[in-house]
Amino acid sequence: MDGSPTDFGSAYRVLSGAVIPRPIAWVSTHNEDADNLAPYSFFTVASIDPPIVVFAPVGRGDSLKDTPRNAIEHGEFVINIVTGDLVEAMNQTAATVDSGVDEFEHAGIEKAESTVVDAPRVADAHVAFECTLHDTIEMGSSTLVFGEVVHVHVADNVLTDGKLDTTKLDAVGRLAGSQYATTRDRFELTRPP
Ligand SMILES: Cc1cc2nc3c(=O)[nH]c(=O)nc-3n(C[C@H](O)[C@H](O)[C@H](O)COP(=O)(O)O)c2cc1C
Repeated sequence: MDGSPTDFGSAYRVLSGAVIPRPIAWVSTHNEDADNLAPYSFFTVASIDPPIVVFAPVGRGDSLKDTPRNAIEHGEFVINIVTGDLVEAMNQTAATVDSGVDEFEHAGIEKAESTVVDAPRVADAHVAFECTLHDTIEMGSSTLVFGEVVHVHVADNVLTDGKLDTTKLDAVGRLAGSQYATTRDRFELTRPP
Protein backbone atom coordinates (compact mmCIF):
# COMPACT_ATOMS: atom_id res chain seq x y z
CA MET A 1 0.00 0.00 0.00
CA ASP A 2 1.15 3.52 -0.62
CA GLY A 3 -0.51 6.91 -0.54
CA SER A 4 -0.63 10.21 1.28
CA PRO A 5 0.48 10.41 4.96
CA THR A 6 -3.14 10.48 6.14
CA ASP A 7 -3.94 7.23 4.28
CA PHE A 8 -2.14 5.41 7.11
CA GLY A 9 -4.45 6.49 9.95
CA SER A 10 -2.86 9.89 10.44
CA ALA A 11 0.37 11.66 9.52
CA TYR A 12 1.34 11.49 13.21
CA ARG A 13 0.85 7.75 13.25
CA VAL A 14 2.96 6.93 10.21
CA LEU A 15 5.70 9.45 11.06
CA SER A 16 6.05 8.58 14.76
CA GLY A 17 5.66 4.87 13.98
CA ALA A 18 8.41 4.74 11.36
CA VAL A 19 10.92 7.34 12.59
CA ILE A 20 12.08 5.12 15.43
CA PRO A 21 13.65 4.79 17.89
CA ARG A 22 13.68 8.46 18.84
CA PRO A 23 15.94 9.70 21.62
CA ILE A 24 14.10 11.52 24.37
CA ALA A 25 15.02 15.04 25.45
CA TRP A 26 13.84 15.33 29.04
CA VAL A 27 13.76 19.09 29.20
CA SER A 28 13.96 21.07 32.42
CA THR A 29 13.04 24.75 32.43
CA HIS A 30 11.90 27.30 34.95
CA ASN A 31 9.51 30.20 35.17
CA GLU A 32 8.73 32.71 37.94
CA ASP A 33 6.52 30.21 39.78
CA ALA A 34 7.95 26.75 39.29
CA ASP A 35 10.47 24.39 37.74
CA ASN A 36 9.17 22.37 34.83
CA LEU A 37 10.20 18.99 33.42
CA ALA A 38 8.77 17.20 30.35
CA PRO A 39 9.84 14.67 27.69
CA TYR A 40 10.17 15.52 23.98
CA SER A 41 11.11 12.79 21.51
CA PHE A 42 11.08 14.91 18.37
CA PHE A 43 14.70 15.62 19.26
CA THR A 44 18.11 15.50 17.60
CA VAL A 45 21.54 17.11 17.17
CA ALA A 46 21.43 20.02 14.71
CA SER A 47 25.09 21.14 14.70
CA ILE A 48 28.40 20.08 16.21
CA ASP A 49 30.28 23.38 15.86
CA PRO A 50 28.79 25.14 17.66
CA PRO A 51 27.07 22.28 19.47
CA ILE A 52 23.33 22.77 18.89
CA VAL A 53 20.43 20.46 19.68
CA VAL A 54 16.80 20.85 18.65
CA PHE A 55 13.45 19.58 19.91
CA ALA A 56 10.04 20.13 18.41
CA PRO A 57 7.06 20.77 20.68
CA VAL A 58 3.66 20.70 19.04
CA GLY A 59 1.98 24.11 19.25
CA ARG A 60 2.85 27.69 18.43
CA GLY A 61 2.00 31.17 19.64
CA ASP A 62 -0.65 31.14 22.36
CA SER A 63 -0.86 27.34 22.30
CA LEU A 64 2.79 26.75 23.26
CA LYS A 65 3.42 24.07 25.88
CA ASP A 66 5.09 25.12 29.14
CA THR A 67 8.56 23.87 28.16
CA PRO A 68 8.99 25.94 24.97
CA ARG A 69 7.30 28.94 26.59
CA ASN A 70 9.74 28.85 29.51
CA ALA A 71 12.71 28.20 27.22
CA ILE A 72 11.82 31.17 25.03
CA GLU A 73 10.98 33.55 27.91
CA HIS A 74 14.07 32.70 29.98
CA GLY A 75 16.49 31.79 27.19
CA GLU A 76 17.80 28.59 28.72
CA PHE A 77 16.99 24.97 29.48
CA VAL A 78 18.59 21.64 30.30
CA ILE A 79 18.22 18.46 28.25
CA ASN A 80 18.52 15.40 30.49
CA ILE A 81 19.06 12.10 28.68
CA VAL A 82 16.51 9.38 29.50
CA THR A 83 17.99 6.03 30.56
CA GLY A 84 16.40 2.77 31.72
CA ASP A 85 16.54 3.67 35.42
CA LEU A 86 14.70 6.97 34.80
CA VAL A 87 12.02 5.92 32.36
CA GLU A 88 9.18 5.60 34.90
CA ALA A 89 9.97 9.01 36.35
CA MET A 90 10.17 10.49 32.85
CA ASN A 91 6.72 9.14 32.05
CA GLN A 92 5.23 10.85 35.14
CA THR A 93 6.41 14.20 33.82
CA ALA A 94 4.39 13.82 30.60
CA ALA A 95 1.22 14.52 32.61
CA THR A 96 -0.59 17.75 31.81
CA VAL A 97 -0.19 19.92 34.90
CA ASP A 98 -0.58 23.63 35.57
CA SER A 99 2.47 25.73 34.69
CA GLY A 100 2.69 26.87 38.34
CA VAL A 101 3.21 23.30 39.59
CA ASP A 102 6.79 22.18 40.23
CA GLU A 103 7.01 19.04 38.07
CA PHE A 104 10.10 17.74 39.89
CA GLU A 105 8.12 17.72 43.15
CA HIS A 106 4.97 16.49 41.42
CA ALA A 107 6.81 13.43 40.05
CA GLY A 108 9.13 12.96 43.07
CA ILE A 109 12.32 13.67 41.10
CA GLU A 110 15.40 15.09 42.77
CA LYS A 111 16.74 18.24 41.14
CA ALA A 112 20.31 19.51 41.07
CA GLU A 113 21.59 23.00 40.39
CA SER A 114 23.01 23.61 36.95
CA THR A 115 26.46 25.11 36.51
CA VAL A 116 25.90 27.77 33.84
CA VAL A 117 22.12 28.17 33.41
CA ASP A 118 19.47 28.85 36.05
CA ALA A 119 17.15 26.00 35.04
CA PRO A 120 17.68 22.95 37.28
CA ARG A 121 18.71 19.52 36.01
CA VAL A 122 17.66 15.99 36.98
CA ALA A 123 20.10 14.95 39.72
CA ASP A 124 20.08 11.27 38.69
CA ALA A 125 20.50 11.88 34.93
CA HIS A 126 23.74 10.29 33.71
CA VAL A 127 24.07 12.90 30.96
CA ALA A 128 22.66 16.44 30.97
CA PHE A 129 23.21 19.27 28.51
CA GLU A 130 22.87 22.82 29.80
CA CYS A 131 21.65 24.93 26.89
CA THR A 132 21.09 28.56 26.04
CA LEU A 133 18.38 29.34 23.52
CA HIS A 134 19.93 29.62 20.06
CA ASP A 135 16.83 30.09 17.91
CA THR A 136 13.21 29.10 17.42
CA ILE A 137 11.42 28.37 14.17
CA GLU A 138 7.67 28.05 13.88
CA MET A 139 7.07 25.28 11.37
CA GLY A 140 3.67 23.88 10.52
CA SER A 141 1.91 23.02 13.76
CA SER A 142 5.13 23.00 15.82
CA THR A 143 7.75 25.35 17.23
CA LEU A 144 11.31 24.09 16.84
CA VAL A 145 13.51 25.07 19.79
CA PHE A 146 17.27 25.14 19.15
CA GLY A 147 19.67 25.21 22.10
CA GLU A 148 23.41 25.75 22.17
CA VAL A 149 25.04 23.31 24.57
CA VAL A 150 27.11 25.44 26.94
CA HIS A 151 27.88 22.90 29.65
CA VAL A 152 27.76 19.09 29.82
CA HIS A 153 27.35 16.79 32.84
CA VAL A 154 28.41 13.15 32.41
CA ALA A 155 28.31 10.80 35.40
CA ASP A 156 31.48 8.84 36.17
CA ASN A 157 29.63 5.52 35.85
CA VAL A 158 29.06 6.01 32.09
CA LEU A 159 32.68 6.93 31.34
CA THR A 160 35.51 4.69 30.18
CA ASP A 161 38.96 6.31 30.12
CA GLY A 162 37.32 9.71 30.44
CA LYS A 163 35.08 9.26 27.40
CA LEU A 164 31.34 8.67 27.24
CA ASP A 165 30.76 4.92 26.84
CA THR A 166 27.49 4.19 25.06
CA THR A 167 27.54 0.59 26.29
CA LYS A 168 27.25 1.88 29.86
CA LEU A 169 24.61 4.55 29.21
CA ASP A 170 21.49 2.37 28.73
CA ALA A 171 19.74 5.15 26.81
CA VAL A 172 16.06 4.62 26.02
CA GLY A 173 14.24 5.61 22.84
CA ARG A 174 10.59 6.13 22.09
CA LEU A 175 8.77 4.04 19.52
CA ALA A 176 5.10 4.65 18.73
CA GLY A 177 2.54 5.46 21.43
CA SER A 178 3.49 3.89 24.76
CA GLN A 179 6.23 1.66 23.33
CA TYR A 180 9.89 2.20 24.11
CA ALA A 181 13.20 0.56 23.14
CA THR A 182 16.46 0.12 24.96
CA THR A 183 19.89 0.38 23.30
CA ARG A 184 21.12 -2.91 24.77
CA ASP A 185 20.90 -5.10 21.65
CA ARG A 186 23.90 -3.90 19.66
CA PHE A 187 25.88 -4.92 16.60
CA GLU A 188 28.82 -3.47 14.75
CA LEU A 189 29.10 -2.49 11.11
CA THR A 190 32.35 -1.15 9.74
CA ARG A 191 31.91 1.89 7.54
CA PRO A 192 33.49 1.64 4.06
CA PRO A 193 36.47 3.93 3.41
C1 LIG B 1 8.26 9.90 25.60
C2 LIG B 1 7.45 11.12 25.25
C3 LIG B 1 7.85 11.93 24.21
C4 LIG B 1 7.12 13.09 23.89
N1 LIG B 1 7.53 13.85 22.84
C5 LIG B 1 6.85 14.98 22.52
C6 LIG B 1 7.29 15.79 21.42
O1 LIG B 1 8.29 15.52 20.75
N2 LIG B 1 6.56 16.91 21.16
C7 LIG B 1 5.48 17.28 21.90
O2 LIG B 1 4.87 18.33 21.63
N3 LIG B 1 5.06 16.52 22.94
C8 LIG B 1 5.72 15.40 23.28
N4 LIG B 1 5.30 14.62 24.33
C9 LIG B 1 4.19 15.09 25.16
C10 LIG B 1 4.64 16.10 26.21
O3 LIG B 1 5.65 15.54 27.06
C11 LIG B 1 3.44 16.51 27.08
O4 LIG B 1 2.52 17.24 26.28
C12 LIG B 1 3.82 17.31 28.31
O5 LIG B 1 2.68 17.46 29.15
C13 LIG B 1 4.33 18.70 27.98
O6 LIG B 1 4.65 19.32 29.21
P1 LIG B 1 4.96 20.86 29.36
O7 LIG B 1 3.70 21.62 29.01
O8 LIG B 1 5.32 20.96 30.81
O9 LIG B 1 6.10 21.19 28.45
C14 LIG B 1 5.97 13.44 24.65
C15 LIG B 1 5.56 12.60 25.69
C16 LIG B 1 6.28 11.44 25.99
C17 LIG B 1 5.82 10.55 27.11
